[in-house]
Amino acid sequence: MKKAELIFIPSPGLSHLISTVEMGKLLLQRDGCISVTVLIMKLPNDLVVENYTQKLSSAANPSSRLRLINLPVQDELASNKSENFLFDFIESQVIHVRDILSNLIESSDSQLAGIVVDMFCTSFIDIANEFSLNSYIFFTSSAACLGLFLHLVSLVLENDQDLTQYKNSDAELHVPCFSRPVPAKVLPFMFLEDGPKSTKFLRYLKKFRETKGIMVNTFSELESYAIQALSTDGIGNTQKIYPVGPILNLNENESNTSKNESEEAILDWLDNQSESSVVFLCFGSMGSFDECQVKEIANALENSGQSFLWSLRRPSPKGKMEYPKAYDDPQQVLPDGFVERTKGIGKVIGWAPQMAVLSHPAVGGFVSHCGWNSTLESVWCGVPMATWPMYAEQQLNAFELVKELGIAEAIRIDFRRDFKAESPVDFVGSEEIRSAISRLMGKDGNIEISKKVSEMKNKSRMALQEGGSSYIAQSLFIEDVINNTA
Ligand SMILES: *[C@@H]1O[C@H](CO)[C@@H](O)[C@H](O)[C@H]1NC(C)=O
Ligand SMILES: *[C@@H]1O[C@H](CO)[C@@H](O)[C@H](O)[C@H]1NC(C)=O
Ligand SMILES: *[C@@H]1O[C@H](CO)[C@@H](O)[C@H](O)[C@H]1NC(C)=O
Ligand SMILES: *[C@@H]1O[C@H](CO)[C@@H](O)[C@H](O)[C@H]1NC(C)=O
Ligand SMILES: *[C@@H]1O[C@H](CO)[C@@H](O)[C@H](O)[C@H]1NC(C)=O
Ligand SMILES: *[C@@H]1O[C@H](CO)[C@@H](O)[C@H](O)[C@H]1NC(C)=O
Ligand SMILES: *[C@@H]1O[C@H](CO)[C@@H](O)[C@H](O)[C@H]1NC(C)=O
Repeated sequence: MKKAELIFIPSPGLSHLISTVEMGKLLLQRDGCISVTVLIMKLPNDLVVENYTQKLSSAANPSSRLRLINLPVQDELASNKSENFLFDFIESQVIHVRDILSNLIESSDSQLAGIVVDMFCTSFIDIANEFSLNSYIFFTSSAACLGLFLHLVSLVLENDQDLTQYKNSDAELHVPCFSRPVPAKVLPFMFLEDGPKSTKFLRYLKKFRETKGIMVNTFSELESYAIQALSTDGIGNTQKIYPVGPILNLNENESNTSKNESEEAILDWLDNQSESSVVFLCFGSMGSFDECQVKEIANALENSGQSFLWSLRRPSPKGKMEYPKAYDDPQQVLPDGFVERTKGIGKVIGWAPQMAVLSHPAVGGFVSHCGWNSTLESVWCGVPMATWPMYAEQQLNAFELVKELGIAEAIRIDFRRDFKAESPVDFVGSEEIRSAISRLMGKDGNIEISKKVSEMKNKSRMALQEGGSSYIAQSLFIEDVINNTA
């Protein structure tokens, strides 16, 4: 029998690629009748991706059902980093993707069962349509976020609503995927700014409706309300929703082979702490604060008397979209004598091996920017969170975690970090931080939250086991794509 071949097209960048490959491997492992081809858009000189794909190709044997195809590198476009650079770059690949699909259809000894794109790559759906192939989305944020996006598409593109009216507004919106009204202050900020970028993104999202289904990196037990709302009609979509997660980056080791001393030192330090005693602070790959905010956090930690592990990084130079780096010497931004005074109870680090830290029994709470991946990791490890969102859809995640699901304490729900602004637009004082940390770590402060989080830890693991909700959703997806080739 011919294999049913799925073509995955992730956005450029290592993290998108890794999660796609992991998703592909999972499907291959689940069903011997499937093969997976990943089309890779490589930015020029992206050596990290280069290394990763080389390692992956050499690991794959000739009979492997996982195949990688590099799309041509577009040097000219990449040197022009306009605001829409990423979207332009992806769209410039349309002709190449068409060629590749056309070749595959002619030559393949398997039968194409469809394409799977992520949320920025919906331009390729048109090509799938040309070839009468089915399309699917792999959505890497929450089901609630997916519901909000689809709702905004209908408000703006079908009902001519102007979202800029919600900028700095106390209004609340009724969104089908949320049981409570959603404050305008937690909407992803890009939608509230007037501009072609927001409309362009909404047009991409609208194309979700042309797909057959959407795999979401979540599980039914975590977001039952949102998934129920998405799966019943009335939200404008007739797609199937497959909650297949949590798909975690369990092999962060593979991409970062330099198993360095700093990681060992961090885990050794945690080994010395008592169970659930340490609060871990980490703000994601783009997370950083300016100096006066850093001092407030430091004072809060010192006043709380709590053991802590703090991933502290330097903001990137203004106007540059590069990842924050560790300080050569963090004492240059910390209060005088802080490191000395907190010796023994606290440790300030740069990059954190997040999954290893969250899995450590000494860690009892997580102050997080609420990126969806970090949220899933925290749930998987059963560590309660305190929310400190910064950008993208993180405020929405914080709102969901605190108000809808009751599995996190709030430091803030609507905090916003604006990378373009000259001065910080938002600030949290040390007392506000300290009291949230005390509630998070307190013996009696968060019993309800701790209980729910440890239940979710169990449910997240059960979901992936044979017969679990996500396992079944994966089976349904596989069945549906194999039927496409019948
Ligand atoms: C989660 O991580 C994956 C892989 O690292 C990435 O592709 C995806 O965009 C992330 N999702 C969010 C919402 O940040
Ligand atoms: C790529 O791999 C080579 C050889 O393993 C290594 O020396 C180099 O530092 C890697 N580059 C990046 C950017 O990871
Ligand atoms: C850079 O991109 C912008 C927007 O896509 C375009 O208007 C401009 O002509 C480009 N510049 C160059 C030098 O290609
Ligand atoms: C990553 O490496 C560390 C240290 O070698 C190890 O303890 C951990 O289990 C590894 N994680 C995974 C997911 O393989
Ligand atoms: C790998 O580890 C190094 C050192 O700990 C860190 O600086 C770097 O950001 C990590 N790279 C990735 C892709 O996570
Ligand atoms: C762990 O605690 C012992 C005893 O207090 C101390 O000697 C050792 O240096 C500590 N190790 C680390 C990594 O902090
Ligand atoms: C989850 O809880 C159930 C019921 O208490 C138990 O039978 C099961 O072993 C637990 N599963 C995991 C993965 O912890």
